Amino acid sequence: MAKVNENYLKLRGSYLFSTIAKKVSEYQNSHPEEAKEIIRLGIGDVTKPLTPAVLKALHSAVDEMGNSETFRGYAPDLGYDFLRKAIADEYKERGCDIDPGEIFVSDGAKSDTGNIQEIFSEDSIVAICDPVYPVYADSNVMAGRSGSFDEKNDRWDRIVYMPCTRENGFSPELPEKVPDIIYLCSPNNPTGTALNKAELKKWVDFALEHNSVILFDAAYEAYITEDGIPRSIYEIEGAKKCAVEFRSFSKNAGFTGVRLGFTVVPQDLEISGVKLNPLWARRHGTKYNGAPYIQQRAGEAVFSPEGKKETKALVDFYLGNARIIYDGLKAAGYEVYGGVNSPYIWLRTPNDMTSWDFFEKLLNEYRIVGTPGSGFGPSGEHYFRLTAFGTRENAEKAVERLKKG
Ligand code: MLT
Repeated sequence: MAKVNENYLKLRGSYLFSTIAKKVSEYQNSHPEEAKEIIRLGIGDVTKPLTPAVLKALHSAVDEMGNSETFRGYAPDLGYDFLRKAIADEYKERGCDIDPGEIFVSDGAKSDTGNIQEIFSEDSIVAICDPVYPVYADSNVMAGRSGSFDEKNDRWDRIVYMPCTRENGFSPELPEKVPDIIYLCSPNNPTGTALNKAELKKWVDFALEHNSVILFDAAYEAYITEDGIPRSIYEIEGAKKCAVEFRSFSKNAGFTGVRLGFTVVPQDLEISGVKLNPLWARRHGTKYNGAPYIQQRAGEAVFSPEGKKETKALVDFYLGNARIIYDGLKAAGYEVYGGVNSPYIWLRTPNDMTSWDFFEKLLNEYRIVGTPGSGFGPSGEHYFRLTAFGTRENAEKAVERLKKG
């Protein structure tokens, strides 16, 4: 008799952003007129179109696919050399020595951060920041590493939670129990705060001392505006021996609907004499047929001089929205964080409302969709996330509505 993977039955409700989409759709059905006014600042999905350099590369790659001389079938499963080299060159410009053979091109950082756990032992102890992107916890629940859900504490009893709260400046403290795998995201989703060089060094030193592996999600690195904040973990000495890094083209170049990302697994990264690079290559080769040629040419264009200029303009635009939302909320009396090195604004709910109550209030009274902080972890309770990925007009309108309230 077939049996399901019972770990899936342990998962809590549906994926956070699916739950929100469902609630918004219910509101639309019950309030069709009011719903026309909805401003979506929930999921971190971009709204600006692809840039000219990217479009040119896409069109030309499509033409190549329509010509028998230049048509391509399966892509190399780890990525085309032209893109891996462009990525390695970009790392070099930042002073990080990454070889193209250490770069694995994929369909995005969500898949990679969700799948990477497969190459680690089933009994690994996993540490996550709290609050954080829900994929890290959920993918480890599916793999059977989470233990049971402790309803009273609102936590998985085998996962190490590292609270990131206003009390510790949203910077996780080293855990007492040493984890095997440590997920870090900087700038962090959802708090919008970023680890500075000294803070990140503390984590690299800790991982090296305890033979732990850091899984570093750098999907929002393009939003870093302040000095002293590393855009890559490999800016820290020793990181190539203890860290995997995930990057995305979604939030910088607007590829949420195109799908492209990459992961760096350095050759120096070993656990008990076993290199992780060939393990991830084996997993990639077995379960993935490579990101499409057309997307990879578009990715290459992001690193061209025009592409870099255009991407910076996109990021600057969203950071402009972030500033409007941040300043507007402050002026309206909210306690606000993030938004400076990140497209996410993290606010404390007024009068200690629960995150979901605040979600309902914003949707029903202000017709604004945001993301409840508690959906990212128990320490996110009484917080709320707004994204800067909307239009300028909507950022301004949202602030006006909130100010009136
Ligand atoms: C978010 O809103 O947290 C992100 O859009 C999720 C993602 O990138 O998958």
